[in-house]
Amino acid sequence: MLIIPSRGALLSVYYPQIFLILTSGSYLALSSVVALGANIICNKIPGLAPRQRALCQSRPDAIIVIGEGAQLGINECQHQFRHSRWNCSALGERTVFGQELRVGSREAAFTYAITAAGVAHAVTAACSRGNLSQCSCDRDKQGYQDREEEGWKWGGCSADVKYGVEFSRRFVDAREVKKNARRLMNLHNNEAGRKILEERTKLECKCHGVSGSCTTRTCWITLPQFREVGRTLKERYGEAVQVEPVRASRLRQPAFLRVKEARGYRKPADTDLVYLERSPNYCEEDAATGSAGTRGRLCNDTSTLADGCGAMCCGRGHDAHRYTRAWQCDCKFHWCCFVKCSTCSEKSQVFTCK
Ligand SMILES: *[C@@H]1O[C@H](CO)[C@@H](O)[C@H](O)[C@H]1NC(C)=O
Ligand SMILES: *[C@@H]1O[C@H](CO)[C@@H](O)[C@H](O)[C@H]1NC(C)=O
Ligand SMILES: *[C@@H]1O[C@H](CO)[C@@H](O)[C@H](O)[C@H]1NC(C)=O
Repeated sequence: MLIIPSRGALLSVYYPQIFLILTSGSYLALSSVVALGANIICNKIPGLAPRQRALCQSRPDAIIVIGEGAQLGINECQHQFRHSRWNCSALGERTVFGQELRVGSREAAFTYAITAAGVAHAVTAACSRGNLSQCSCDRDKQGYQDREEEGWKWGGCSADVKYGVEFSRRFVDAREVKKNARRLMNLHNNEAGRKILEERTKLECKCHGVSGSCTTRTCWITLPQFREVGRTLKERYGEAVQVEPVRASRLRQPAFLRVKEARGYRKPADTDLVYLERSPNYCEEDAATGSAGTRGRLCNDTSTLADGCGAMCCGRGHDAHRYTRAWQCDCKFHWCCFVKCSTCSEKSQVFTCK
């Protein structure tokens, strides 16, 4: 998420055409960044690492797509965790990618993976739409390498996932400037997110021939729905692996990660999400861990799962809010020509954590 704090609102007054994604999640459409001069925009985005700022300046068209990709990741994160105590919000430093969790927990692992995958997805999709200047459909899959022996050939527009993934690597990974264990964790999770995106791409085909006889087929690669990536990453989150840094020598920086408490030495798998530290319980607001707490969260008073008021409110109890829901019903068509409805209503209530 490209976040321009309070200054953002001001900026948008002077440069109404700038596409700024504000913390509140509101978008201001930006028709042309290029017209404005990449320097101005790239210097105004806070929290960019030097290599990210350089990439922003050389590819101002891509910075918008990167922002969309980060937002895609954040929205999906909020969807996947809507019933959990941790709902993908964090207290802490605002960065290009939203607010970051300080603890190297499995939640932090998820946010890195989904953001890296989101950026790769958005860039690939923009390439296919022709919205980015340096990429398009995957040229390697445009009829050259025919698969006649398998009864089909490449056709249509194959998503250039390799390009999107490489772009995400260049931009997202460039924020890891500190040489510590957390960097290794973040880079691993970024890569895991992108790998899962790549694994979910699909071959789609179309039949050609007289009345759909399918004498020939053309096929192309499509991106998965991002929801599918979110679902897979949520499963990986459930099975996330705790790791510990290994130093090449006592004084050196951590060189790689290994599975903690494994018998013997074992590296985590490429698509595992990895974390260094145990998660806080996210019950109370705590700036030190980045926990936003669950005060005011909606809960379900009959559920015994994570969204139930017992678990969600951590034993603090909950408040009931009663309201009446009204809608149009029993609509009848009268000759001629109007529709008459009655109003139905229902008493309803929601619960929020104390
Ligand atoms: C992307 O391209 C489509 C049409 O190809 C256009 O309607 C849309 O505005 C473009 N989006 C951006 C952000 O340039
Ligand atoms: C997540 O929870 C926090 C703390 O209760 C709340 O302020 C925030 O609005 C919630 N975010 C979403 C997207 O539900
Ligand atoms: C609350 O939980 C119960 C049991 O899990 C479920 O049947 C019901 O649909 C939930 N209510 C809401 C409003 O989500």
